[in-house]
This record gives sequence, C-alpha cells and structure tokens, in this order.
Amino acid sequence: MHAKTAESSKTILTDLVLPSETNPLNNLFGGELLARMDRAASISARRHSRRIVVTASVNHVAFNRSIPLGSVVTIEAKVSRAFKSSMEVYIDVWIEDRESGECIKANEAIYTFVAVDETGRPVAVPEITPETKIEKERFDGALRRKQLSLVLAGKMNPNDATELKALFS
Ligand SMILES: CC(C)(COP(=O)(O)OP(=O)(O)OC[C@H]1O[C@@H](n2cnc3c(N)ncnc32)[C@H](O)[C@@H]1OP(=O)(O)O)[C@@H](O)C(=O)NCCC(=O)NCCS
Repeated sequence: MHAKTAESSKTILTDLVLPSETNPLNNLFGGELLARMDRAASISARRHSRRIVVTASVNHVAFNRSIPLGSVVTIEAKVSRAFKSSMEVYIDVWIEDRESGECIKANEAIYTFVAVDETGRPVAVPEITPETKIEKERFDGALRRKQLSLVLAGKMNPNDATELKALFS
C-alpha cells in the first residue's frame, strides 16, 4: 500500500451558527461543535483510507474560545498519522470575522478513527507522509497520544507505553 500525504486527506467544513445550536449564552453548544468536528474528521479519515471508518476515540478537545451565534465557523481536518488500522485526525476550528474576513483560531481537537470492513473488522490503511513543519510535529507526537489513549481506555499496560514514558524520563 502506497503512503499518502496528509494534505490529500484535508477536509474543510464551513457553516453558520444558528439559534437552535446555541447555549443560554448564545454561543455554539459544545456538543454541536463535537458533532461537526466528528463529521469533518470522519471524511478526512475516509479520504485517507478509502474505507468505512468509525470513531474509536476523542483524544483531546480544547474549547479555548466561545463561538457566538451567527459566526461563520470553518473546521479543517487532516490525518496526522496512520498506524495499522487506526488514524489520528487533527482538527482546527476557525471563526471568520464578519467585517475583515480574518480567521481566528477558536478550538482544536484530536480524534482517532479506525478503518473497518463491511463486518466492522479493522483493516489496514496506508501510511502518512508528513510534508509541512506542523504536519511533521503532529506526526511525531501521534504515537505518544495513541499510547495515552490506549492506556486511558484500559487497552494498554502503562509499562508498555514506551513513547509516553519517555516524556517523563
Ligand atoms: C474502534 C473499534 C473498531 C476497535 O476495535 P477493536 O476490536 O478494539 O480492534 P483492535 O484492538 O484491533 O484495534 C483496532 C485499532 O484501533 C486502535 N484503538 C482501539 N481503541 C482505541 C482508543 N481508545 N484510542 C486509540 N486507538 C484505539 C487500536 O490501537 C488499533 O490500532 P492499529 O490497528 O492502528 O494498531 C471497535 O471498538 C468499535 O467498532 N467501536 C465502536 C465504534 C463506533 O461505533 N463509533 C461511533 C461512536 S458510537
């Protein structure tokens, strides 16, 4: 299987914040943003693998900035690293200023998807070749994050999490 670039999995989803999607402070409801990010990230993982993909884990979400009603929100998702059947997808969320058109980073998240066959069994995916500085940084940290996610899910013994342990030694 040939390696693919991270760029070839890039997925951009732009949409408005409507009243039914807000909390009592008139900001985007967190669960709505999680769903939008999940959609964009799943398309990205599907573009990379050309397979059915399922969300295995939400590894990290930072709601750094609230997103007001009426905002134009752009979600950019890219596969940062592919392992055997799993893919880490990095998501950046931007709000566009109505007058200047300037995009401000609002949030970011990291999801893990697994490629599966028609019966739901994991299948192999192509590797990722990172090209830009940020793609390389995200690729380099992905194994550590995978190990942390597996340890937290009770699927890996902490003693086997070599990359993770290396952070503290
Ligand atoms: C995700 C799923 C396919 C994994 O199946 P599994 O039987 O645990 O399979 P494996 O143990 O072989 O794991 C498959 C891959 O997922 C990875 N994985 C599993 N759980 C993970 C987690 N919590 N965090 C990160 N990676 C995880 C494994 O490391 C493995 O990666 P690799 O093949 O790249 O090395 C299975 O748990 C599933 O179908 N879950 C439900 C998915 C779903 O319905 N999502 C929608 C939300 S409700």
